[in-house]
Amino acid sequence: MTAHRIVFANEKGGTGKSTTAVHVAIALAYQGAKVAAIDLDPRQRTLYRYLENRVETERRREIALPGARFSVYDGEDIGELDDLAEAIADGYDFLIFDTPGRDDQFARHVAATADTLVTPLNDSFIDFDLIGQVESESFKVKKLSFYAELMWETRKKRGLKTINEGRRELDWVVVRNRVQHVEAKNMRRLEGALLELSKRVGFRISNGLSERVIFRELFPSGLTLLDKGHLGELGTSHLVARQELRQLVAGLNLPMPTNREPDLQLAGDE
Ligand SMILES: Nc1ncnc2c1ncn2[C@@H]1O[C@H](COP(=O)(O)OP(=O)(O)O)[C@@H](O)[C@H]1O
Ligand SMILES: [Mg+2]
Repeated sequence: MTAHRIVFANEKGGTGKSTTAVHVAIALAYQGAKVAAIDLDPRQRTLYRYLENRVETERRREIALPGARFSVYDGEDIGELDDLAEAIADGYDFLIFDTPGRDDQFARHVAATADTLVTPLNDSFIDFDLIGQVESESFKVKKLSFYAELMWETRKKRGLKTINEGRRELDWVVVRNRVQHVEAKNMRRLEGALLELSKRVGFRISNGLSERVIFRELFPSGLTLLDKGHLGELGTSHLVARQELRQLVAGLNLPMPTNREPDLQLAGDE
């Protein structure tokens, strides 16, 4: 059994790749999946540090939480990364990659081997530019970005491979993240342009996490919205946020293992 690979990627920082990657990892662990994760952003190490903070919280509070096996890759060799990926995901259901917000050879490499590619996009035309450019008057898509072209090529190649080698097809999901209240007219234009683009490039559109201060506050403790009972008093807006997270994970259509209890990782269990 090979782990299902989920790659979080786009060419821009600050769109919520790492935050979403961690939350999806923990959500899957809560559902009983065995999850491994590799951080490919050795400068920021957001995912790595988040999960490190989580282990530290478990240790400090003497609690056991569902978690992921995790590593960071800061080498220079694709073959070496492949070896790490194989080793860390051996016997695991999912392997999650978090990538840096820039064009990067390792990010390209793992995107090309993804089963599910998740591209978080903030709701604005500035982010939209990452996938394509739109006419200023009509908002029609006029040009695909380098990134979209790359993914398009990857899918074409993968399509052939899928037939030849029985591989799974790449499911590309653009997740609308950090959605805020946007003026209705602008929102409609954005939605229209995104839909047109999705047809051209072949991705699906799904809803992500909305903008909430709690996502910033959780990082130092490594906790997620799913760690009920460990978060202290939370207002009702967090119930909505937790529901959004569940919907986000469900919308990724991942192959879930059946009949498994969450694997509690005792701190220092590595
Ligand atoms: N849904 C959200 N609501 C509020 N803040 C967020 C949300 N998602 C991410 N952030 C914050 O935005 C910053 C960038 O997010 P991050 O996940 O690191 O993005 P990326 O990995 O794409 O660079 C971080 O400070 C993070 O805490
Ligand atoms: Mg990041």
